[in-house]
Amino acid sequence: MRKPIIAGNWKMNKTPQEAVELINQIKPLVASSSCEVIVCPTAVCLTAVKDAIVGTSIQLGAQNVHFAASGAYTGELSVDMLKAVGCTHVIIGHSERRQYFGETDKTVNLRTLAAVAAGLIPLICVGELLSEREAGYTDTLCAYQTLTALTGLTGKQVEDIVIAYEPVWAIGTGKTATAEEADRVCGVIRTAIAGAYGKDVAEKVRIQYGGSMNPSNASELMGKDNIDGGLIGSASLIAEDFSKVVHY
Ligand code: PGA
Repeated sequence: MRKPIIAGNWKMNKTPQEAVELINQIKPLVASSSCEVIVCPTAVCLTAVKDAIVGTSIQLGAQNVHFAASGAYTGELSVDMLKAVGCTHVIIGHSERRQYFGETDKTVNLRTLAAVAAGLIPLICVGELLSEREAGYTDTLCAYQTLTALTGLTGKQVEDIVIAYEPVWAIGTGKTATAEEADRVCGVIRTAIAGAYGKDVAEKVRIQYGGSMNPSNASELMGKDNIDGGLIGSASLIAEDFSKVVHY
């Protein structure tokens, strides 16, 4: 049985003070949740949010990580830095990083390997552009992005990975994939993992849906067999909405 996992991707929002206000609103609302709950603030807010969640079951994730241990990589953060401020999770390969910051399947793989080696759990984002969907590439692309990201990991390591299926056209647009279609693509991803690592491993991997998931559609999406959680953007910035998704 896979434990549901809901993560809030705060993107480039909130100062440290605002982040603490938000997490303090979220804390009591999600206290009784049976899901794993993760919040992913910006790097400058990680320490403040970590201090605010001590003693709760909320976990901390970063929005990106570099693959080198240290060095001349201006603007990047290493796995050790993230661990030192209390991160347990890290988003890797978000479509905004792929679209605006030159992230490729290769760098997603390198970042994933570094995160896993350090004991951080990656939330690896995959998903198609609208043009790719219209051209009929969705399944091939999502399977390819997933398996490329996982290259070099053992089956045992893959079991703990979280994949976030985020159709790019559904992110921040208010458009959601239908629950049936989201479930179908998450199933395609699981089948690809089974092909490479075996069915037992694939059955353990948690696959989130992301893309305009909110209180009004969370329960339908979460009710699907292959959807084990959500990566929530806009709705994670409003405590009540995030908590309603957590309590889908
Ligand atoms: P959204 O973002 O919920 O605002 O669509 C999801 C994401 O980008 O992770």
